[in-house]
Amino acid sequence: MEKFTLVTGGTGYIGSHTVVALMEAGYQVVIVDNLENSSDKVLSRIESITGTLPVFIRADLRETTTITKIFEEYPISSVLHFAGLKAVGESVENPAKYYDNNIGSTLSLINAMKSSIVSTLVFSSSATVYSPSKEPPFDEEATRGPTNPYGMSKYFIEQILTDVALADENWSIGLLRYFNPIGAHPTGLIGEMPTGIPNNLVPYIMQVAVEKLEKLYIFGDDYETPDGSCIRDYVHVVDLARGHLAALRFLEGVNGTHVWNLGTGKGSSVLELVKAVEEAIGKPIPREVVGRREGDIPVVFADVEKASNELTWRAENTLTRMCLDHWNWQRQNPDGYQ
Ligand code: NAD
Ligand code: UFG
Repeated sequence: MEKFTLVTGGTGYIGSHTVVALMEAGYQVVIVDNLENSSDKVLSRIESITGTLPVFIRADLRETTTITKIFEEYPISSVLHFAGLKAVGESVENPAKYYDNNIGSTLSLINAMKSSIVSTLVFSSSATVYSPSKEPPFDEEATRGPTNPYGMSKYFIEQILTDVALADENWSIGLLRYFNPIGAHPTGLIGEMPTGIPNNLVPYIMQVAVEKLEKLYIFGDDYETPDGSCIRDYVHVVDLARGHLAALRFLEGVNGTHVWNLGTGKGSSVLELVKAVEEAIGKPIPREVVGRREGDIPVVFADVEKASNELTWRAENTLTRMCLDHWNWQRQNPDGYQ
């Protein structure tokens, strides 16, 4: 019987791109998502790209009985766990919601996996677990010290999963720390669907580009960086998707917990990013420099040697390509999947 990979949060931004990568590599996929921050319209888009409609079950991961039943119904051999809430600001306002959803979902999933004897898991962590006191680049050993409840939820989950694998040597767990995912599938059929006014830089710029928002506010140009604006490690979502496949293959042969940064290893400033978008779309982005955003770290970029050495994975897409693909998606779908 064919084995399945369960993808939690598989209708979301990074999950949907990874589902495409898995299906193109011959994996059978079951998606579970409660659609809190995604649309089931993504499923037919995935079918358009891959030629196959993935199995989809609408459920909240915290409903352990429902999740256990999914494991009983499908011969699942591995899990990619994307499901979670990710808005940093909202997590500061409502920390209990974030701890309940992100940690509650993960505990429920672990329990369902244990009762079904499935023990291969890849978890979506974040560069936000690193302490801002460290100078970049961040390698996987860098001191951790998240500064908001969202980041703390990732930090706690990493610890929980590490303890699970310590207690039972059958577990193979991958912790993937993403830097700043942007871009979209080159077909423009799937991409990020932010609800309301976007918090993140690229989704915001794209809405300025389609004239849904008037102008970009650049949060500070007085940082100690070459052009004064903050530096981040932007990574193409399709490269991230490939990184998940590489991690899954690695875990098929080993036990224990393994952690990898997924980034490009290169930092780009806000102003450089704006320039790259302008080149991609062929028109200027109206902008205004305003004060710094509270909590922003001046420079963040990854040390990517571990993923390169152990997973033979490297991000391949340039910043221009990321901007072009993101724009292509935004232009074709100005209202997301609506
Ligand atoms: P997303 O919001 O597009 O996808 C997450 C999905 O999880 C959504 O479809 C949502 O409906 C679903 N979900 C949330 N809670 C659920 C629950 N209790 N039960 C079932 N489904 C639930 O986000 P994304 O950008 O694709 O991020 C995927 C993962 O990667 C998240 O865990 C996020 O924290 C992590 N991550 C994202 C970024 C980023 O910048 N996008 C950076 C680092 C880490
Ligand atoms: N920025 C602006 N204007 C905007 C939005 C952002 O100037 O309208 C600037 C920010 O100040 C920052 C840079 O653009 O300097 C990038 O900001 P994002 O909000 O796009 O990304 P962050 O690096 O702040 O945060 C992201 C995710 C977090 C994750 C973190 C580390 O949003 O969830 O990366 O992985 F935790």
